[in-house]
Amino acid sequence: MNIGILGLGTVGGGVVNVLTKNQAEIMRRTGAQIQITHAAIRDIKQSRICSTDGIQLTQDPFEIVNNDSIDIVLELIGGTTLAKELVEVAIKNGKHVITANKALIAIHGNELLTLAKDNNTHLLFEASVAGGIPILKSLEQGLSANQIEMVAGIINGTGNFILSEMCDKSRDFDNVLKEAQELGYAEADPTFDVEGIDAAHKLTILSAIAFGCELQFDKVSTEGISEISDEDMIFATELGYSIKHLGIAKKLDGKIQMRVHPTLIPKTKLLANVNGVMNAVLVKGNAVGPTLYYGAGAGDEATASAVIADLIDVIKNTVSNDTLGWHSLKAMPYQNQDDIESIFYLRLLAADKPGVLADITAIFVNNNISVEAVMQKQIDEQDNAHIAIITNQVKTSDINTAAAEIQKHSSIQEKIKIIHVETLD
Ligand code: HSE
Repeated sequence: MNIGILGLGTVGGGVVNVLTKNQAEIMRRTGAQIQITHAAIRDIKQSRICSTDGIQLTQDPFEIVNNDSIDIVLELIGGTTLAKELVEVAIKNGKHVITANKALIAIHGNELLTLAKDNNTHLLFEASVAGGIPILKSLEQGLSANQIEMVAGIINGTGNFILSEMCDKSRDFDNVLKEAQELGYAEADPTFDVEGIDAAHKLTILSAIAFGCELQFDKVSTEGISEISDEDMIFATELGYSIKHLGIAKKLDGKIQMRVHPTLIPKTKLLANVNGVMNAVLVKGNAVGPTLYYGAGAGDEATASAVIADLIDVIKNTVSNDTLGWHSLKAMPYQNQDDIESIFYLRLLAADKPGVLADITAIFVNNNISVEAVMQKQIDEQDNAHIAIITNQVKTSDINTAAAEIQKHSSIQEKIKIIHVETLD
């Protein structure tokens, strides 16, 4: 399959890098050889995050959408004027199109999807909502047995970063926004982030997929976060809430509601604990109940992950004809349980005598175990102390050998408890 990319900036560069590093795995999944043959760029001299070796570069994007050798076009330039024209030409030329452009789909999606249908091509846009989170595929595939009752999401990373910093570090709004811009999270026009327009684009798309309604961007009521003050943050916290900028879509009595606004959420809810630039979407289905999807809402490789997933879908549907993907399972080596490395928590009940800790640490040293933290609580009347130890990463066989040796020490009063620790980083 020959791919032409429109735009080789953050997302385009990420696509080239991920396709290169995951080439073998993607080929296993599709059974097809994918190559990026052409890319349209604005500035030849601009530095890039990816190599352009083997890619024919052009400054005229129409050369790509009109090129007969190209099967699939990735539209990654953004905006709603030139991007729209290019997507239309590509579709009319029979090419499949994949885009990360939320404004384009939210505003012109109805006509573009009709055009794609009329031309028997695919138009896919997973990356347009919540970056790397496969939320559209979850709605379309994994949750397809459900009537969707509600979608509620933190779908703008910049806004969430601002609110999190204001709440946790009492930082000033303008100061945090400036940092978000410097870090490259914000839209070219940051009012799209803070006034909820970006989230409204994404919510329009989510509603269409969730409820099967037309894309109706002008039906979203939108309120930004710029009026949220320190006082609101303090009161919300004292009352047991977090303030989040939510996009909410519901279907009630046959009517769709779509709204983006600052929202107080009880701190006990998972969404209330999604902080920084991370995104999360809660979907409530009438069979499955509530489900939650969390991940990076922006960034080069996270967004590329969603673009390439669409690419793989198009290839599976057009070439491989294997939508389930269970076509190439192979025998693979498995790691011996004893060799698995982990952090461990150990709890011992030991007589509180001089030298006990020294003996225990000597056993650790002999078994290559280094210790991250130790805590002792003296609680019983026989002078026995509960000792908790957190190790660094160690081999399972080493911790088991060390624990067996410690167990034999005369000071130990009961069976040593061992529990795995996972930092989930
Ligand atoms: N400006 C967007 C955000 C980028 O902050 O979430 C991803 O769409």
